[in-house]
Amino acid sequence: MDMKSIQILNKELTLPCGVKLSNRIAKSAMSENLSTKDNKVNDTLINVYREWAKGQTGLLITGNIMVDARALGEPYNVIVEDTSQLDMLRKWALVTKGTSAQLWAQINHPGRQAMEQINEELKAPSAVSVHITGRKNATKKIPIAMTENDINDCIDRYGNTASILKNAGFDGVQIHGAHGYLVSQFLSPLTNQRKDKWGGTLENRARFVMEVYKNIRRKVGASYPIGIKLNSADFQKGGFSEADAMQVVHYLSDAGIDLIEISGGTYEAPVMMGYKKKSTRDREAYFLDFVKKARKITSTPLMLTGGFRTPSIMASAVSDGHVDVIGLARPFTVYPHLTREILDGSREGLRVQNRKTGIKAIDGAMNLIWYEAQIKRLGEGKKPKLKLNPWLVFIRYVWGVIKKRT
Ligand SMILES: Cc1cc2nc3c(=O)[nH]c(=O)nc-3n(C[C@H](O)[C@H](O)[C@H](O)COP(=O)(O)O)c2cc1C
Repeated sequence: MDMKSIQILNKELTLPCGVKLSNRIAKSAMSENLSTKDNKVNDTLINVYREWAKGQTGLLITGNIMVDARALGEPYNVIVEDTSQLDMLRKWALVTKGTSAQLWAQINHPGRQAMEQINEELKAPSAVSVHITGRKNATKKIPIAMTENDINDCIDRYGNTASILKNAGFDGVQIHGAHGYLVSQFLSPLTNQRKDKWGGTLENRARFVMEVYKNIRRKVGASYPIGIKLNSADFQKGGFSEADAMQVVHYLSDAGIDLIEISGGTYEAPVMMGYKKKSTRDREAYFLDFVKKARKITSTPLMLTGGFRTPSIMASAVSDGHVDVIGLARPFTVYPHLTREILDGSREGLRVQNRKTGIKAIDGAMNLIWYEAQIKRLGEGKKPKLKLNPWLVFIRYVWGVIKKRT
């Protein structure tokens, strides 16, 4: 594909709220796992975004920020539930000012996927525990089914966190509605077995995400961007299906959401990282078929994440009208300025492959922690290292968990 065709990725996009993205490439959320021990923002984390902000990317979405200190996804996730660290949040939000990038904060509650080693109790729509392939007795803690009060408190928390982040200067927020975290747990009949108005029919299972969205909108106003990351399906028998997802796209579009990012899978069936049949991997974008269908039922801007590695394929996905924004995650850990390089033609393909230890249970985690280690290098002002030793990464990660608990 010639450079002229690639320039479609350099086109501005106006969101329903009126805010413009300067181009069509977004850095999708990646948990940085870089906070202080008490889960606050620090300079290493801010440095990572300072580096990413130099790369001409239209939209940078932060790693998931927790809305509840009692439910942590990883030991060093940032928690925002009050204004106690407003100064550091402001400093973080400032890194993109004066650049072409929008900086959105992804907000999340992990529900049953909270890390059991570092949370006293797990709360979820229903008492259904997690089973991760390759890990025997993966979860000993069975989550407690949320009460009506817990649910309402949680909906409030998403709105509260979003409004603090808006005041700190973030340009938008994204609800994490994918990958088996709390919103996604409510959507799935496998993990939501409730008999009240929050479970059962799809309308009931989607009530939580719709209330979360409406509450955030009330708090941040009509002209502030709100996005969501949503699964095209959970890829689990009896779980959230493609037909369900299509209907939820419909609900959210009608409600006025600004950007729907499509992904898929959960940490029990991690297809978002590419665990699909080879033919799908070869076509690069894992969830393109879903997005093509979704395009027919909504005019809300659609972002697609998972597998994109070749600029010409990204450009075709946009020029064919299937998607509006191309989301990339792992490539940004080793090519932090990839957008500029794609747009000026100096980067043709993105070769990203974490190294493995050969032990299945460890290599499952390596899909996250190897890339987190690259993110940490960016924060420390070091260059990415494609040969980073997976054993070293694993030992450092375990040490981090031990330190968190002591
Ligand atoms: C280290 C790491 C952390 C991630 N953390 C998040 C996260 O906090 N929120 C989220 O929505 N997705 C998260 N993801 C998933 C990515 O956003 C993305 O969906 C996935 O990596 C597939 O895209 P890619 O093929 O471009 O990497 C994470 C992925 C990685 C590698």
